[in-house]
Amino acid sequence: MAKYLVTGGAGFIGSNLVDQLVLADNEIVVVDDLSMGLVANLPQSDHVRFIEHSITDHPFMQELLKTERFDYIVLLAAIASVADSVERPYATHLVNQEANLNIIETIRQAHLPLKKLFFASSAAVYGDDPALPKKEDMAVKPLTQYAVDKYATERAIINYARLYDLPFVTVRFFNVFGPKQNPASPYSGVLSILLNALAHDLPFTFFGDGGQTRDFTYVSDVVSAIVGLLHTPEAKGDVYNIANGQQTSLQAVADTLQAITHKTLNVTYQAARAGDIRDSYANVDKINALGFMTHTPLKAGLQAYVQSV
Ligand code: UD1
Repeated sequence: MAKYLVTGGAGFIGSNLVDQLVLADNEIVVVDDLSMGLVANLPQSDHVRFIEHSITDHPFMQELLKTERFDYIVLLAAIASVADSVERPYATHLVNQEANLNIIETIRQAHLPLKKLFFASSAAVYGDDPALPKKEDMAVKPLTQYAVDKYATERAIINYARLYDLPFVTVRFFNVFGPKQNPASPYSGVLSILLNALAHDLPFTFFGDGGQTRDFTYVSDVVSAIVGLLHTPEAKGDVYNIANGQQTSLQAVADTLQAITHKTLNVTYQAARAGDIRDSYANVDKINALGFMTHTPLKAGLQAYVQSV
C-alpha cells in the first residue's frame, strides 16, 4: 500500500486516476479547489481523503508535503483551458507554474523521500509550427500564457530531476476526453461541450471552420500512462507525449458523435479563438517504447464516452 497525493484529483483526469489507484488499495489524498472538479467525481472510500484547497496557498502545501510524506505525487491541478488563460494570464501563471514550483522546491529543500513525482504538461507547448506529428525533441513555440507556464514547469521538473537527482517525470497530454469531463464552462474540453449539446439539444459553436485537427485521447489510456510512468523508475528527468497518435478534425469527431448518438448537431460558426492552434497530433514512439501505453481506437473511446453520460 502506497500513499499518493493527486492535485486536481476531483477534476476530470484526476478523478479517473483516483478511481484506478483506489482499486489497488492505496491511500490517496486529493487537493482540489473545485474550480472545475466535483466532489461527486471521487469514489466513496476510506482510502480517499479530499481536501478542498488551492495549490496556490504555498505555506499550506509546504506543510502538507512535510507532514504527510507521500510516496507518489501527481500534479494535475491546473487552469486547463488555453482560451481561459488568454483571459486570465496572471491567474494561470500562479496556478500552472508558481504553485508547482513551490511543491518541487519544498521537496528539494526538505529532502522529502519520494518514489516518483509526475507533472502534466501539454501539447500546447509545441505551438503552431506546421511540422507534424509532434515529437518530444522538436523546437517548442508556446503561444499563450497557458503554454508558457506548462513549458516552464515542464523544464523545471526535468532540471530538478537532473540537477538534484530527484525522481520527477513530465508528459505532454494531447486532447484528453472521456467520462467525468465537466461540460459546464465555455472553456471546457470541446468534446464535453459537443456531447452535452447533442444530449440536451443545445447549439454548438465551431470556433473556426471545424477543420482544426487534434489527437483525441481516451482518458483510460492517459490513466494507464500515468500509472506506468509512476512505476517505471528509469523514466525520470524526461518528457513523453501522451496521445493516441492519430490526427482527426473537429468536424470528423462531430460527425462520428452524431452517428453514435443518432442526433443532429445544431451548429453555428464563429472566428477561431485567439491563441488557438490549427493542427496537432503526436508521435508516440517514446512512450510506446516503455511498454505499458494503451491506445483505445477513437471510435471505441467515443462510444464508451457516450455510454457514460
Ligand atoms: C486542450 C486542453 C488542454 C490541453 C491541450 C493539449 C481542455 C479545455 N483543453 O486544449 O488542457 O493542454 O488540449 O493539446 O481540455 N472549440 C470549438 N467550440 C467549442 C470549444 C472549443 O470549436 O465550444 C475548438 C477550439 O477553438 C479548439 C478545439 O475546439 O480549436 C479544441 O479546443 P479545447 O477543447 O479547448 O482544447 P485545446 O485548446 O486544444
